This record gives sequence, C-alpha cells and structure tokens, in this order.
Amino acid sequence: MKIIEANDYQDMSKIAADYIMKKVSTSPNIKLGLATGGTPTGIYSNLVADHRENGTTYRGVTSFNLDEYVGLSGTDPNSYRYYMDHHLFDHIDIQKENTFVPRGDMDNIQDGCAQYENLIQKRNGIDLQILGIGENGHIGFNEPGTSFESKTHVVQLTHSTREANARYFNSLEEVPTEAVTMGIGSIMKSREILLLISGEQKREALKKLFTGDVDESFPASVLKNHPYVTIIADKAAIGDLKVHS
Ligand code: PGA
Repeated sequence: MKIIEANDYQDMSKIAADYIMKKVSTSPNIKLGLATGGTPTGIYSNLVADHRENGTTYRGVTSFNLDEYVGLSGTDPNSYRYYMDHHLFDHIDIQKENTFVPRGDMDNIQDGCAQYENLIQKRNGIDLQILGIGENGHIGFNEPGTSFESKTHVVQLTHSTREANARYFNSLEEVPTEAVTMGIGSIMKSREILLLISGEQKREALKKLFTGDVDESFPASVLKNHPYVTIIADKAAIGDLKVHS
C-alpha cells in the first residue's frame, strides 16, 4: 500500500480528484467504483468544478456504487442514488444509464444482489475503486466479521454504523437497519483502489490498518493483500503514526 499524506480534508479531496481526473482523461471509458458518505463529497465537488472550468468529460465513463440502504428508493434524499445524483452525476456529462447503484427497493433483494454482481463482471470489472473506511474498519457496508470472499449481499448494519450515519436522518430510528453492499471479494477484484481517510475520528482505523493483522475482524485489513492500493490520508488521521519506513 502506498500512502500520500495530505495536509487536511480539502487537500486530500483535491489530490484524490486530480488523481481521478487524470485517469478519466487517459482512459475515457474507465469503469469507476464510487463511494458515498462524508469523505468523498469534497472529491465530487472538485470533479464538478473541474468539469465546469476545464471540460473534463465523463461521457464514456461507467460507474458502480458500493452500497445502498434497503427500503429506500432512489428518490429518497437519504438514498445513495440520490446522493450520487445530487453530488456528482447531475453536474457532469456522465450518461445516467451508465451509472449503477445497487437497488435497495427491489421486491427480491437477493436476486438484485446477484444481478448487480453479474453486471459488474459482465462489464469486465472495476478499474478504479474509491473507498472510505469506517471507524470499525468497514469498507462499503461490510462490517467486521464479513467473509473476505463475500460478493454483493444484504447486511445488517451495526449500531455504531447506524449511529455514525444518523446525522443525515431526523433520528437514529429512521436509519435503515439493512443495506445492500458490494462484498469484500467484489471490492478486491477492482484493478486499483484509492482509499481516503480523513479526520481524527479515523486515526485508530488507519493505525490498525497499518499495524494490525490481515483479519476478517477488521475488514479494511484485506487491502494489504491487494497489489495496487493508494491511500490518501490527512494529517489529522495520520497523527504520529510512522507511515513511511
Ligand atoms: P464517512 O464514511 O465517509 O461518512 O466517514 C466512510 C465509511 O463509513 O465507509
């Protein structure tokens, strides 16, 4: 794993956005794996600003999102489909039909999971996956204990994850209890991974990633087995951890 040190959240977002823009410019048909949550909003606003100012085009890009809440339709402001449209897709020239987010409102959610997994493979997989990390080491909504072989599946959200996400809802009770997520095995098939880590509240997670064992009790640790991972972390997340030997 290679690590790039950023000064702060803004710097991390700019470095990551530049990295993605460069990839999109050199590979116009790139397949991106995208993430939601607080971490990537700064990246998306940089991509939107660059699209407006410099015209970087996304017409040939396909995207696959990591996860979605079960029970929310894409028009629900708390759904991740809505988040992606609002933060990115509505402001760049990506073809909406080439943007894929797991459906949380399907009658047969198990079939939906299998279809999503097949779709990614049918399109020949993800070239560059953007990832955040949970305080408990989750990637996507793969909570501690999830099999490293897992494919797209339904998960029960842990109390800590629901608490962390309650800030977007009116109350904790409104936070869905289940989600659909790409599995750890699905994520690991991506040819390249860009992991973003910002803020003091992620310091323990970053430390564990660097110093801990590869173990299913800490999902992100699997990334140590991936050949092409770049971490962009800010100073608040790094703290006094020695990230360069
Ligand atoms: P955050 O979430 O970006 O909102 O901190 C990251 C994650 O839980 O994967």
